[in-house]
Amino acid sequence: MTSPLRLGIAGLGTVGAGVVRIVQTHPELLEARAGRAVAITAVSARDRNRDRGVDLSAYAWEDDAAALARRDDVDVVLELMGGHDGIAKQVLETALDHGKDVVTANKALLAHHGHALAERAEANGRIIRFEAAVAGGIPVIKALTESLAGNEISRVMGVMNGTCNYILTRMESAGLPYDAVFQEAADLGYLEADPQLDVGGIDAGHKLALLSAIAFGTRVDFDGVELEGIGAITIDDIRHAADMGFKIKLLGVAQMTGRGLEQRMSPCLVPASSPLGQLEGGTNMVVLEGDAIGQIVLRGPGAGAGPTASAVMGDVMDLARGLRLPVFGQPAASLRAARAAQAAVAAPYYLRLRLLDKPGALAKVAKVLGEAGISIDRMRQYDHEDVTAPVLIVTHKTTRAALEDALSGFEATGVVQGQPVAIRIEQV
Ligand code: NAP
Ligand code: HSE
Repeated sequence: MTSPLRLGIAGLGTVGAGVVRIVQTHPELLEARAGRAVAITAVSARDRNRDRGVDLSAYAWEDDAAALARRDDVDVVLELMGGHDGIAKQVLETALDHGKDVVTANKALLAHHGHALAERAEANGRIIRFEAAVAGGIPVIKALTESLAGNEISRVMGVMNGTCNYILTRMESAGLPYDAVFQEAADLGYLEADPQLDVGGIDAGHKLALLSAIAFGTRVDFDGVELEGIGAITIDDIRHAADMGFKIKLLGVAQMTGRGLEQRMSPCLVPASSPLGQLEGGTNMVVLEGDAIGQIVLRGPGAGAGPTASAVMGDVMDLARGLRLPVFGQPAASLRAARAAQAAVAAPYYLRLRLLDKPGALAKVAKVLGEAGISIDRMRQYDHEDVTAPVLIVTHKTTRAALEDALSGFEATGVVQGQPVAIRIEQV
């Protein structure tokens, strides 16, 4: 009879306890599908006495997660603690060096150290799986690595941070300002321990960097991701965008160009009627484009105990069945160094300016745009606020460089008050 696959779980929080729950709920189903039992032998967390809503009494307890990664009765280490350095990295390295395969949900760790860890795994004849690290329960790593392996991938894009999508859609539906909805998200427990990881676009940037590595055969290059968060988006931007038929999304886009790998994670306007535009709340959506497949759209829950543990268990089941693939879909030595390229593809932009209400103000703004080679597509002026009025401009396609020229030119006009807001309009 085939021996059971023995799991050691480091981290028993939202995700770790979710995994324990699945293993305890479906032992026969897992065994029937894998052809062998899947059993937890050891667990680790900081606080041994905390009630986690699952019975841990049958498992060995380790106070030190690195000790768990060295145990002889563990075949696969599940790293479900988090953090891009420290104990999480130590656990992965220890596990690989002691002949264990690893399943992790830790996008931060892999975004920072993914290539070195992939090399280390291969040197030890081991595997790292990380389906849960990107878009929670959506099987996007599997789709890219396996199902679309015959395609040259041209573009990967999507909404990959549920918290930001919750904040943006809730601002619109409840008509609440950013700060109020941010507080709601905090009260609901949606925010990462460091909220800047969510609202600064960093968490989603980590995920995009991991997808890029698989899609384009490059080493993970998180430093190459152009990052912009959602903190500057106001309820007025959301209303004005809606007024013009758009939604604002924190959108990640990665594509290989002749100049190198473009990766950006930033607020974008997308058509309200598009699948991305219709994405509500904490749901994630990833769009993959390849030469043979055309386009596919994957949509589902991006976070939470059930969906994330579901993705972890998918990886565990692959290991139990004997599926052994390179970490980023091809041997680490064959991954090329990514040459980061700034987004240069022209796009229309949404501009929001606060203009002094005096004769010739609009003409001065139009002149700056004209001198930067930017043509105006649509323009609206909204109600006055004291001596200024918000003016919205949708440009025809232009480059980011031309837009930067215009943005710096506005200051000298003396009629633009405060910081103008510029958001790319993405064709999706
Ligand atoms: P969490 O609820 O904060 O749980 C973290 C767990 O790690 C806790 O059980 C904690 O122990 C344990 N831990 C922390 N430091 C430790 C140490 N030094 N030694 C041993 N255990 C330690 O976090 P989570 O939400 O489950 O997230 C876990 C991982 O999954 C992270 O990488 C996260 O980014 C990723 N992820 C989470 C989600 C989600 O929806 N939550 C979705 C996708 C990916 P105590 O319980 O004793 O404090
Ligand atoms: N903070 C992340 C999100 C959790 O909001 O999507 C899942 O990775």
